[in-house]
Amino acid sequence: MNIQIITGPITSELAAELARIQNEAYVATGMRSYQPEEIRDLLSLNNYTLYLAEDNDRTGPVGFLIEQYVAGEAEIITIAVQPDFQRKKVGKALFSALQSRVRDIPIANVFLEVAEINTLSILFYKTLGFKKNGTRKSYYTINSNSIDAIVMIKRY
Ligand SMILES: CC(C)(COP(=O)(O)OP(=O)(O)OC[C@H]1O[C@@H](n2cnc3c(N)ncnc32)[C@H](O)[C@@H]1OP(=O)(O)O)[C@@H](O)C(=O)NCCC(=O)NCCS
Repeated sequence: MNIQIITGPITSELAAELARIQNEAYVATGMRSYQPEEIRDLLSLNNYTLYLAEDNDRTGPVGFLIEQYVAGEAEIITIAVQPDFQRKKVGKALFSALQSRVRDIPIANVFLEVAEINTLSILFYKTLGFKKNGTRKSYYTINSNSIDAIVMIKRY
C-alpha cells in the first residue's frame, strides 16, 4: 500500500475516479456522494489536501481522504475506501499519513462529522483514537430523513 499526498488542483480523470470510489463506498451508508466537479473544486482551494491510497497490485487508487487545515485544526472532509478493499487497513493507512503530515505543522486536533447512523465508521474512528465531542442536530438528510451528526475529535 502506497499513500500519495497531493496538494493543489487535480485532473478531471482523477476527480472522476475519486467520485466513483466515494459513490461505491457511500452506498451502504445512504449518504450523498460528491460529483467529480465538487471534488475538483474543493481540491483547488487552499488548505485542502488529498491522501490517495494505491495498491501495489492494482492500477489506480483504492481509497482516499480529503483534509482541510485551518488554524491548528485539521478536519476530515471525507474518507472512502472501495468496498472490496475495506477492512484491509487502507483507511488506517490514510489516517496515519494525515497524522504524520499534520504533526509537523503543528496541530492541536483533528475533527470530523459523521452521521450518527453510520455506526461502522464511528467504530473505525474510535479505533483511530477519536472521541465524541458533540452533536450537530439535523446535519444530514439521508433517504429523506433528518439525521444528527456526531462531532468526533482527536487531540494532540
Ligand atoms: C470507514 C472506512 C473509511 C474504513 O476504511 P477501512 O480501510 O475499511 O478500515 P481499516 O481496514 O483501516 O480498519 C481499521 C479498524 O477500524 C475498525 N473498523 C473498520 N471498519 C469496520 C467495520 N465495518 N466494522 C467494524 N469495525 C471496523 C476495525 O477495528 C478495523 O481494524 P480490524 O479490521 O483489524 O478489526 C470504510 O469502511 C469506508 O469507506 N466506509 C464507507 C464510507 C464512509 O462511511 N466514510 C466515512 C464518512 S464520515
